[in-house]
Amino acid sequence: MKNSLFLKDLISSDDISSENLTVIFEKARELISLVKQKGGDNRLQGRILAALFFEPSTRTFSSFITAMQRLGGGIIPLNGMQNTSIEKGESFEHTIRVFSSYADCLVVRHPQVGMPQIAALVASVPVINAGDGIGEHPSQAVYDCFTIVSRFIGKSRLTVSLIGDLKNGRTVHSLAKLLPKTGLKINFNFVSPEVLKMPPEITGYVKSKNCPVTETDDLLSVVGKSEVLYVTRVQKERFSDLGEYEKIKNYYVVNRKVLQNSAKDTVIMHPLPIAAGEISDDLDDYPGSLYLRQQLQNGLYIRMALLDLILRDQ
Ligand code: CP
Repeated sequence: MKNSLFLKDLISSDDISSENLTVIFEKARELISLVKQKGGDNRLQGRILAALFFEPSTRTFSSFITAMQRLGGGIIPLNGMQNTSIEKGESFEHTIRVFSSYADCLVVRHPQVGMPQIAALVASVPVINAGDGIGEHPSQAVYDCFTIVSRFIGKSRLTVSLIGDLKNGRTVHSLAKLLPKTGLKINFNFVSPEVLKMPPEITGYVKSKNCPVTETDDLLSVVGKSEVLYVTRVQKERFSDLGEYEKIKNYYVVNRKVLQNSAKDTVIMHPLPIAAGEISDDLDDYPGSLYLRQQLQNGLYIRMALLDLILRDQ
């Protein structure tokens, strides 16, 4: 299949087609074998990735850096923009233009929605959105979809429950839009307190793709009917009133008791970090917990696949 991701920006799940997903997943499987056999190779030798993180990150930053290095490329790693000329007042647009004249691809995280899109407009190289405020996080959604598809081979229909801060959680925005493109028939449960409901435009989009959606605040009502329980943290950094955050941060706590009526094949996913105990520590080694195992590992392989496909014509 043709690689139509070559030199393309990745700003939103809208930028990824079903055909793209097939190509990315095939590439990721090739790269899993490569890493297991040899650790990596030099296919991106001579290419440079600039990781420009205007907001904190552990996984996204480190996995993009690792992905580039495992494929032989170079990096400009800025996890935080302290000590750059942003501190002297240089504009975002000029900063992007500077790095796009040094690097072959920019990975941009920013607390404000839409900034990676602005970066893509001024950059002369491809831009990957590594999370923009309460907007989107498309590379996370690609590896979440890969994790689900790989786990449920042979199933054509799944019930996926997205749980927690669906209003502010960019990972669930991107995932809800991308999952219908996997070819699986998805029934969604959107599980949140009333004040943290999924934005209506995303619920409307998902319904327009013929995915039934149930919106509820009752976690226990969905546990026994879900193959995937995708839990998110309440996003403290998006609250102007921290008193409101404190009241709601533990609205859901998923633990072994909550899972007692779950099906044998139910999996627990979380984009991480777990920051307010929304998944209890005693689930870290639960057989169905994927968040510190396959889901996390797939983040590296999918980002290797994306960089390979975006940076090399093939
Ligand atoms: N899932 C995720 O985006 O994690 P980081 O914020 O650590 O990058």
